[in-house]
Amino acid sequence: MNEPNSDDFVVVANRLPVDLETPTDGGPPVWRRSPGGLVTAMETVLRSNSGAWVGWPGTPDVTVDPFEEDGLSLYPVELSSQEVEEYYEGFSNDTLWPLYHDALIPPTFDRRWWRTYRAVNQRFAEAAARAAAPGATVWVHDYQLQLVPRMLRELRPDVTIGFFLHIPFPPTELFLQLPWRKAIVDGLLGADLVGFHLPGGAQNFLYLANRLFGLPAPRGTSSGGTIDLGDRQVRVGAYPISIDSAQLRERSRDKAVRERAAEIRRDLGDPEVMLLGVDRLDYTKGIDVRLEALHELFAEGTLDPEKVVMVQLATPSRERLTAYAQLRDQVEREVGRINGEFARLGSPVVHYLHASVDRDELLAMYTGADVMLVTPLRDGMNLVAKEYIACHPDGSGSLVLSEFAGAAAELRRALLVNPHDLEGVKRAIVEAIEDDPAERKKRMKTMHAHVMEYDVARWSRTFLEDLRATSGAHVTASGS
Ligand code: ADP
Ligand code: F6P
Repeated sequence: MNEPNSDDFVVVANRLPVDLETPTDGGPPVWRRSPGGLVTAMETVLRSNSGAWVGWPGTPDVTVDPFEEDGLSLYPVELSSQEVEEYYEGFSNDTLWPLYHDALIPPTFDRRWWRTYRAVNQRFAEAAARAAAPGATVWVHDYQLQLVPRMLRELRPDVTIGFFLHIPFPPTELFLQLPWRKAIVDGLLGADLVGFHLPGGAQNFLYLANRLFGLPAPRGTSSGGTIDLGDRQVRVGAYPISIDSAQLRERSRDKAVRERAAEIRRDLGDPEVMLLGVDRLDYTKGIDVRLEALHELFAEGTLDPEKVVMVQLATPSRERLTAYAQLRDQVEREVGRINGEFARLGSPVVHYLHASVDRDELLAMYTGADVMLVTPLRDGMNLVAKEYIACHPDGSGSLVLSEFAGAAAELRRALLVNPHDLEGVKRAIVEAIEDDPAERKKRMKTMHAHVMEYDVARWSRTFLEDLRATSGAHVTASGS
C-alpha cells in the first residue's frame, strides 16, 4: 500500500480525516478526527469502499509520509504557514467561504491569496496524480480545491474525475464578483461530473459556464444537465449529501448512550425541556440568532428559565480569522447575558461548551434533547439536522430548521424558520415545545423515514454511478 499509482479510488479533500494536533502541554503530536461534515460523510464512504485519501494533515510546516490508518491509505499534502494563511485562511475562508454564503461578511479579494490558492491546488493535483492507479476514479471535494479537476486532467487524462461542492454554490450575481471567476469555472469543467447539494446550485453553475465560456446552452432538466465541450462532456447535477443513518440509529439505541442521555438530563437539573444546538463556531450557523430568540423568550416570560435549559456545543473553527474571533466573543457575551439575567446559583440556563465532543457523547445529547435548534443564515446541507432525526426513531423530539439550510429542501416537516425573522424563530421554538405530541410524533416519524432511506451510502452510490456513466477519462480534454 501507499505505492505510487496504486489506488483505484482516490478522495482528494483539503483535510485528511484526521488532524495532527500538538497538545498545549508540550506532549507529542496526536492524530484526532478532523472537524466538519465533509469528513463525517466521506469517512463513512471510504471505510466501506477501500481507497486512498489525499489531504492536509491540519498542521503547517510538517512533512508526514504516506501512511495507513484503519485500512485507509492516507497521502498527506504539506502546507507552509504562509500557505495556510493565504490559501486556507485567506482565499478559501475569507474569499470563497463568505462569497458562497450570501456574502454574510464582505469577501476579501486579494491577488496574492489567489496565486497561493492556485499553487496549492496544483500540489494537491500532483499528489492525486501520484496516488491514482491507471484509469482510477478520483473524487475531488469542496471549495478549497476547485482548480484541481482541470489540473489533474492535464496531468492524468486517463482518470475519471468527479467533483462535489459541500457548501452552497452562490447566486450568479455574487459569483460574478469574483475576479477569478473564469478560472474557477474552468477548473471545475475539468471534471466529468460536478455535483452540488441542490438543483439551484447546479443551475447557477450551468448558467455561468454558458455565460463565461459561450458554451452551447446545456441540455438538461431542472436538477442538472450536460455541458458539451466539443470533444468531452461535463455532467452537472444535484446530490444532497446525508449521513450513515442506520449506524446512528443503532448507536442511539445502545443502552450506554441512553443511560448517558438520562444522566445528562439529570446533570442539567431535570429540566422540562432541553434545547440543543451543535455547530462549528461559524458565523453562517446562526448561533447568535437562536440565543437572541431565547433571551427574548425568557425576558418576555414566554419561557420559564426554571423549566427550559439549552445546551450549545460549538466546535472551535478557523480561530485566527477576525470574523470567527468576533463571533466567539459575541456568542460568549450573549451566553453570559442570558445566564446573568436568568440563571440561579448552580443552575445555568445556557450550558455552552466551546469544544468538540466524542461521537457517543454527541449521540447522547441528540437522544436526550427535546428540541434541536438548527438556524443557519446559509448552509450547504447541515448534517446535524439529519443526525438528530436519525437518533429519534420513536418519533420523539422536534426540529427547528432554517429555510436557508440545504436540509430544508428535504425535511419539509421540520418547523421551518427564516433566521432573519426573530419573531418567527421565537414562534417556532415555542411551537416545538408546545406542539401537540401526536402531531410532533407524526412530523418526526416522517422525517426519520426520509433520513433512513436517503443515507450517505445512497448519496455516494448515486454520485459514483453517475460518474461512471459519464464519458470518463478516455477522451482528452478540450481546453474550453
Ligand atoms: P459543517 O460541515 O459546516 O461543519 P455539518 O452540520 O454539515 O456542518 O457537519 C458538522 C459535523 O460535525 C456533524 O457530523 C456534527 O456531528 C459534527 N460536529 C459539529 N459540532 C460538533 C461538536 N461540538 N462535537 C462533535 N461533533 C460535532
Ligand atoms: O463543509 C464545509 C467545510 O469547510 C468542509 O470543507 C470542512 O470539512 C468543514 O467545513 C470544516 O472546516 P475546516 O476544514 O475549515 O475546519
